[in-house]
Amino acid sequence: MWIVPESEIFTMGLWSISIGALGAAVAGILLANTEYFLAKTEKASAEYLGDADLKTIADESRTFKAKELWEKNGAVIMAVRRPGCFLCREEAAGLSSLKPELDQLGIPLYAVVKEKIGTEVEDFQPYFKGEIFLDDKKRFYGPEKRKMMFLGMIRLGVWQNFRRAWKAGFEGNLEGEGFILGGVFVIGSGNQGILLEHREKEFGDKANLTAVLEAAKKIKHSESH
Ligand SMILES: *[C@@H]1O[C@H](CO)[C@@H](O)[C@H](O)[C@H]1NC(C)=O
Repeated sequence: MWIVPESEIFTMGLWSISIGALGAAVAGILLANTEYFLAKTEKASAEYLGDADLKTIADESRTFKAKELWEKNGAVIMAVRRPGCFLCREEAAGLSSLKPELDQLGIPLYAVVKEKIGTEVEDFQPYFKGEIFLDDKKRFYGPEKRKMMFLGMIRLGVWQNFRRAWKAGFEGNLEGEGFILGGVFVIGSGNQGILLEHREKEFGDKANLTAVLEAAKKIKHSESH
């Protein structure tokens, strides 16, 4: 009778466990690169956003309803994931490149941030050619806040975004909350509603600037202007 030594069975067992674990890890990484784990986006309504209490960044902060920003002339608004994040700075610079065209159309460009830590907002301003407000209730990140955490690190798209922004020379820091994903909105004047809503689906997922500009061109200027 042929007997397999116990140690060999043990080794074989270890091997199959390792292969199983490796398989699970590979499957996990593949799955992480699909849309499977991404937070589902619930569309915001202009009413919901308009009711947000925003604060000015200056020391004597003033609180106002967000709809004031677009009531007359519409607006392009960036919800910044984190002012110190270099991908966010890259996106801010991209949107700012539309500023001359937006100026011609008479449409303002704004950004909102979730929190104000140290000089983070001031440090972000050079990348963004528009006024920045504080949305500490995070309405522009809702209705359902979408988070990306360690998943962001194993998504290929995120690494490609890092590489692109890094090559373009953008730098950042690690201050502040950065897991709740941001986005870009083009909101019409009066009751025109939201014309474009881009929700970041992973870190560094930028809005399509051509589409932003196209949406901005649809903004009607109210009579009162
Ligand atoms: C960007 O948007 C424009 C206009 O909607 C579209 O034609 C173009 O294909 C988009 N580009 C990408 C990369 O999705």
